[in-house]
Amino acid sequence: MKIVCCNDYKEMSRVGAGMVAEIVKSKPACVLGLATGSTPEGLYAELIDMYKKGELDFSEVTTVNLDEYYPISPENEQSYRYFMNTKLFDHVNVDKANTHVPSGSAEDAAAEAARYESFVRSLGGADIQILGIGRNGHIAFNEPAEALYPATHVTGLTEDTIDANARFFASADEVPTKALTMGMGTILSAKKIIILANGKGKHEAVSAMLSGMVTTSCPASFLNLHADVTLICDREAYEG
Ligand code: PGA
Repeated sequence: MKIVCCNDYKEMSRVGAGMVAEIVKSKPACVLGLATGSTPEGLYAELIDMYKKGELDFSEVTTVNLDEYYPISPENEQSYRYFMNTKLFDHVNVDKANTHVPSGSAEDAAAEAARYESFVRSLGGADIQILGIGRNGHIAFNEPAEALYPATHVTGLTEDTIDANARFFASADEVPTKALTMGMGTILSAKKIIILANGKGKHEAVSAMLSGMVTTSCPASFLNLHADVTLICDREAYEG
């Protein structure tokens, strides 16, 4: 795993956006694997800036997001579809029809997971996948467990993740208890992966990932199996 240790969040976001921009410039019809959460917001703001300066064109880009709460409607302000529209898609010239998030309003969650998995696979995986990392080492909604799922699936959220996400809802009771998420194999099918981490709260998870061992107690450690992963972090996440 390559490591880029940045001075602060702003630099982390710039470095990440630069790597995404390189892909969009060299392959205009690329597939971008996107993530939600507070970590990648700065990266998306940098991409919007580059687009506004005329440096980037998203007209041929396809996007696939990692996950979505279930059940949740796309209009719900806490849905990941809403997050992506407001933090990125509404501000660049991507064709919304080419932006994909698992559907939190599908009637049959398992069928939606299977559909999404085939769709991502039919694209050949993402050209670059952006990831955040949970305090407990999760990536997307692949939480530490005795065994992990290879493909997109329906999953329950852990207490830790419900607590961490409760800040976005009126109370922890309102956080949906399930999600649709890409599995480990779906994520690892990306040609290139960048994982962003900032702040002391992520240090433990980052250290576990960087130990080089692969363990289901730290799903992010599976990234050690991929040939092209870059950790882009700040000093606090790296040094604790
Ligand atoms: P955060 O979430 O960016 O809101 O810290 C990261 C994650 O859980 O993947």
